[in-house]
Amino acid sequence: MIPEEKVREVAERISIVEVISDYVPLRRAGANFLGLCPFHGEKTPSFNVSPAREIFHCFGCGTGGNAFSFIMKIEGISFPEAVKLLARKTGIEIEDRQLTPTEKKAQDEHSQFLRINDLTTSYYRSILQHGQEGEAARQYLTDRAVGEDITEAYRLGFAPDRRDGLVKHLKNNGIDLNLALKLGVLRKSESGWYDLFRNRLIFPIKDARGHVIAFAGRVLDTSLPKYINSPESPLYHKSSVLFGLDMALPSVRTGNAIIIVEGYFDHLALYRAGVQNVVATCGTALTGTHAGLIKRHAERVYTLFDSDIAGRKATVKSMELFLEQRIPAYVISLPSGDDPDSFLKEHTAEEFISLKDKARPAFEYFVRSLLAESPPDSVDSKVRTIDEIVPRFRKIADSVERDLYEKEICRLLGITTHAFRKRMGGGKLSSQEVPADKDKTEQPADNVQETLLALLLYYPEARVKIVQTGLDNIFNDDYLELARTALDYLSDSSDTHDFSQLAEIVEKPELKSLFSKIMVSDQYLADIEWRAVFDQCTRSHEKKQLSSIKEIAARLAVLDQGSEEYALLLKQADALRTRKSKL
Ligand code: CTP
Ligand code: MN
Repeated sequence: MIPEEKVREVAERISIVEVISDYVPLRRAGANFLGLCPFHGEKTPSFNVSPAREIFHCFGCGTGGNAFSFIMKIEGISFPEAVKLLARKTGIEIEDRQLTPTEKKAQDEHSQFLRINDLTTSYYRSILQHGQEGEAARQYLTDRAVGEDITEAYRLGFAPDRRDGLVKHLKNNGIDLNLALKLGVLRKSESGWYDLFRNRLIFPIKDARGHVIAFAGRVLDTSLPKYINSPESPLYHKSSVLFGLDMALPSVRTGNAIIIVEGYFDHLALYRAGVQNVVATCGTALTGTHAGLIKRHAERVYTLFDSDIAGRKATVKSMELFLEQRIPAYVISLPSGDDPDSFLKEHTAEEFISLKDKARPAFEYFVRSLLAESPPDSVDSKVRTIDEIVPRFRKIADSVERDLYEKEICRLLGITTHAFRKRMGGGKLSSQEVPADKDKTEQPADNVQETLLALLLYYPEARVKIVQTGLDNIFNDDYLELARTALDYLSDSSDTHDFSQLAEIVEKPELKSLFSKIMVSDQYLADIEWRAVFDQCTRSHEKKQLSSIKEIAARLAVLDQGSEEYALLLKQADALRTRKSKL
């Protein structure tokens, strides 16, 4: 651990503009500095650095934070490593020291979390290995040709059909069940504690170092839902976890490539066949964070998604992410109707490898599948196809590649490059380019809520007013957590507030992004009449609440008064009314 004073000393000594300038050319633009974001491909700069607040934010991909976060992200290193790296640059010496009680507590909680997951894994594992209740699961795995060595490599388990088997196991091991509740493996109702997983085959989900951070449970038959997954928790953020990364890393290092599949069983099928540089998303679409993680470990990526419509959509979406982050991406196509598991049942690993060797660059795959869907046999269909292609074409960073693709597209469509470029330009190139760069997964901004947060951050008097009114009455769920964190920080530390330190405390990526965005936004840099803005904002918030009361009322009117939903909505409407009356 690095002493907190040292971290602050380093923070004070560096200038974020200088730090970032080592990696990204920046130019001044008003109060901020501006450049091309190094974390996603873009041609119009939307990467802002505020020297006053020591914060950066990219309006294109939403990445933001302070100088430490920048170094962590761009160098792919941990916080202490980033501090050390910047300390070296400024000539500050750093020695590790003992933890403070608060740090110790956080670390203890973390190790308790890991212990709970270990106990949970071995509990399910022992039932699968020799429990009487594990018989059906053992049979299931035998039927799917999953041998002992594989179940051991994945540490597969089985959750028996019992209400509180895990509850008891954790209790017997002296675990504080409230901590297990935070991880979502247990739940609590009026009649007591109970297990999340029942009668399911268990896949432990591990991080890159092999620590179990969550679980997925599959039914043994055709009932639904096929999988139940651990909820998001302090250890588990599914949008940034790649299943099997820990098992893949050794072979990723030698081959520099990663194959992405959609399912746990697809992963298992490939791994069993000896193709080990494989990861799977955990029941969610691939995100920019996943892409970043892949970029950190490999030079190339192969997608291996189902050959159905959903799979094709996922392939195109992932291609956009890889184009943005400049990761060469290829698409492996299986015969239609196959997934990796079914393919490898009928074919050898060598046959799979030869399919992989025939993988097409993702962009080429995309253009070809567009053409297969709507053949370019009329002006109309050509125009539609070009319009599908253009926004993605813009994301190709490499100019040689762009050139080649341009030629190829024009040849396939039977148009001249002049016509293609004209359509690309469209007279409105720059205004179209900006939204095309935007990360579509970003939540739509709520300006009123953002402004209220800015008031809380910058105007101590507004802060008092906000606390009086009650955070709950002012912020909706998306903003409440950040508001709380900020308020805690601002009321805890007595001296002048260092916003860049607050950026370290905010850990969730979406909140970090929101925070850095507010920090670099021009409209909050100028002095404003906080009182007038506050009144205006709360009025408009109130209006929104009012309209949701109206919506609820309309719904109530058509519902059966004895139904559960009716009771629930009634409660909501009441809650909204009380909030409103407090404003
Ligand atoms: N998934 C999920 N929740 C579901 C269904 C699917 O989280 N209710 C996720 C899981 O990560 C799953 C992946 O989507 O692995 C792919 O789904 P599917 O192909 O149905 O599952 P497989 O794991 O491939 O299982 P199987 O081969 O047994 O069909
Ligand atoms: Mn599948």
